Amino acid sequence: MIDLFSDTQTRPTPGMREAMARAEVGDEQSGSDPSTNALCERVAAMLGLEAGVFMPSGTMCNLASILVHTRRGDEIIVDDQSHIYNTEAAGAAALGGVSVRALPTRVGLFTAEAVAAAIRAPQRTAPRSSLVSIEQTTSFSGGTVWDLAEMRRIRDVAQARGLVAHIDGARLLNAVAATGIPAADYARGFDSAWIDLSKGLGCPVGAVLCGSSAFVEAAWQWKYRLGGAMRQSGVLAAAGLYALDHHLDRLAQDNANAARLHRAVADLPGLGFDPTAGQSNILYFSVEGLGITAAAFAAACLEEGVRVRALGTHHIRATTHLDVSETEIEQASAVLRATALAFAARD
Ligand SMILES: Cc1ncc(COP(=O)(O)O)c(C=O)c1O
Repeated sequence: MIDLFSDTQTRPTPGMREAMARAEVGDEQSGSDPSTNALCERVAAMLGLEAGVFMPSGTMCNLASILVHTRRGDEIIVDDQSHIYNTEAAGAAALGGVSVRALPTRVGLFTAEAVAAAIRAPQRTAPRSSLVSIEQTTSFSGGTVWDLAEMRRIRDVAQARGLVAHIDGARLLNAVAATGIPAADYARGFDSAWIDLSKGLGCPVGAVLCGSSAFVEAAWQWKYRLGGAMRQSGVLAAAGLYALDHHLDRLAQDNANAARLHRAVADLPGLGFDPTAGQSNILYFSVEGLGITAAAFAAACLEEGVRVRALGTHHIRATTHLDVSETEIEQASAVLRATALAFAARD
């Protein structure tokens, strides 16, 4: 099967497994796991931020950031397609007592003006707006790459009004590969930012959350409270270090493969693409024009050996990654084409 369900579906390569087996380890909780420390320093330097903390998941990075940056009764601003809003089990509300203001978007992008309008004026009756989060790249709305200038305008509007600015960088490195803009340029001036190791980088586990030393210290306390503090985490961190050495440069191939897939199906009747389609390693399109559900389209592709993800009633997401070769992309393109044409012919 060619698995385009998500870039989380990769398996650790033999080289990565070997690096994990050889990892130098210590006790992470007491700050003495050398591999974890090395990984955190490396990612913090890459993002141009002061310090970093290793987390079991990106979800915990978002949650710990929210818990550090907000008080109970606050409101945070995100996009309506965001991971924080849709698929983190309302962690911000459940653990932080924080409500989420989800800005309506088409492809996960909003503007500084929309943020300015959404920030609440201080009032006894209103929640305090305290954080704005940008997802670079957008996940559920198709891997759209945020424009750096817009990100900075949003950061500035937020900070000028007393909010903190956060980057959910689950796929920040795919944006870097797409634009050539260094991660540190994207993260500059943001109060917190993180990258996932278990997506395009191909690690089995982990993410690194960065910010100022004071922020990371506070995030560490939440990591303990949430049960995310580890012991010999160097085994996992070694996978991250290996990935930064061996898998970072090849993220451009994943982006190119998504663009290849896009070119192969862009002209098909019944498929709907946003102008931003295929910007990074995710291809997102609507099958509404075929008069079928996304679930029916995904099931038909699966029968032909290609796994894609149905999102909502009409959208399909296909994500490229380390374990999908260019040849497999050609094969997947043929399956997607044949499937769409077969449904179109039924009308
Ligand atoms: C944009 C975004 N944020 C956060 C996450 C959560 O990351 P993790 O699966 O490591 O918890 C994901 C995972 O799919 C994501 O796509």
